[in-house]
Amino acid sequence: MQMKKRLVIAIDGPSAVGKSTVSKMLANSLDYTYVDTGAMYRAVALRVEEEGIDTDDEASLARLCAEVDILFSMENGRLKVMLDGRDVTEAIRSPSISLLASSVSAKMAVRDALLKFQRRIGKNGGVIVEGRDIGTVVFPDADIKFYLDALPEERGKRRYKELIEKGENVDLKEVTRETVLRDRSDSTREYAPLKAAVDAIDIDSTHMSVQELADKMLKIIGELG
Ligand code: DC
Repeated sequence: MQMKKRLVIAIDGPSAVGKSTVSKMLANSLDYTYVDTGAMYRAVALRVEEEGIDTDDEASLARLCAEVDILFSMENGRLKVMLDGRDVTEAIRSPSISLLASSVSAKMAVRDALLKFQRRIGKNGGVIVEGRDIGTVVFPDADIKFYLDALPEERGKRRYKELIEKGENVDLKEVTRETVLRDRSDSTREYAPLKAAVDAIDIDSTHMSVQELADKMLKIIGELG
């Protein structure tokens, strides 16, 4: 698709709603940069785990955020994540890091550091930025904002399928429970909680394939962009 202006497109929503897959598809179609902000929180969480930092120790969290070096690149349609020079693409996707990322992301010291990083990456436009607070806090002036949602049972199923395909030994009920719990804490935290921006376009993807979702979003981008 040809567009004159290189837009900032914000995509928010709860976990396992299809944000990452669709964001990559859109970035690919538009030749934009895909910015996975959740991966940044996950990378910080991995270091927190490795260093045994207490998530209530804001000073240590601030120190860690000031020194981490997170780099993204796309390789064969997959997002590769480098943390301090090592490949952590797989390591940051484990269920324990999902939970830890959710707790560290509630901390002001962490949000503050990553917010600056995210704004720097997106400032020139031509970006699909995916997360929880992109349309509300990170890019309140984004050109187009989407808020994706789907029923919890469907999101649980999607996350379960993803983990099974990776060879993890998980239980559907447990995965659904964890997904819902994580969303609850992401939506009720004090700073930058997960919520739709007032000017976001809401899409319920419960009964849509990822291709249908991408097509619908591309159509909207074409009309508004
Ligand atoms: O999108 P994800 O599942 O990879 O995100 C992991 C956690 O990071 C999520 O539970 C909440 C947090 N997060 C956030 O607080 N703000 C963002 N913009 C993106 C993710």
